[in-house]
Amino acid sequence: MFERIEGVRKGKKDEEAREKLVALMWDSLASLKGAPDAVTAQRLDEIATHVEGRVLDVGCGQGSMFKRLKRNGYVGCDLSGEMIAGIKHKGDFRHANFFDIDEHFDTVLFCGSLQFFANLTSVFQRCQMIAERVVIAHTRGALFVREERLGNPYVVPCFMPDMDELQSIGHATGFTVTYAHPHLAHFYLAVLDGGGGGGGGGVV
Ligand SMILES: C[S@@+](CC[C@H](N)C(=O)[O-])C[C@H]1O[C@@H](n2cnc3c(N)ncnc32)[C@H](O)[C@@H]1O
Repeated sequence: MFERIEGVRKGKKDEEAREKLVALMWDSLASLKGAPDAVTAQRLDEIATHVEGRVLDVGCGQGSMFKRLKRNGYVGCDLSGEMIAGIKHKGDFRHANFFDIDEHFDTVLFCGSLQFFANLTSVFQRCQMIAERVVIAHTRGALFVREERLGNPYVVPCFMPDMDELQSIGHATGFTVTYAHPHLAHFYLAVLDGGGGGGGGGVV
């Protein structure tokens, strides 16, 4: 597995090793806790206003969105067992891969987590099966994601889609971009609607 993880860091396509590396990375960061600064907190509040109904918070980490969304019916999932261990007593937090959650939601939220997925088309195809709405967010924006990766060779190759890519992936998977923040580079917030959400309880 070590060699496969090395390969992923160099850009090789290997979904299982990539997920392992993401989990290891976030397991090692789970002990670092801290309240968000005022700007981040305000952005998290703004992100929450776009979430409708029952929500799956993908890559929930230590649950930064939980208190903002628990009124809706909230499930958080994360690849990192260490992240989940610290919060699982508070609500429905699952140590699970997004692709293994097989239930219906009104909204699937990726807050600071979409960049860890290698294949966005498969992410949106899955969303199409389980939810009507997808909210994609990163409080520090697409530029931060790009630069963070350049500055840290241990991070998996990460990126956030630009507006054209988002529209094209949405179009290919049955979603329409219904809202996008005007400066995705600095505060990434986009909403896509039109998912089928017919899945759950046996989707393949
Ligand atoms: C930057 S943290 C974001 C945490 C939190 N959402 C926040 O805004 O503070 C990204 C999280 O996404 C998780 N993640 C990445 N890929 C995932 C996947 N396929 N399924 C579930 N969680 C995933 C990572 O383990 C990590 O904890």
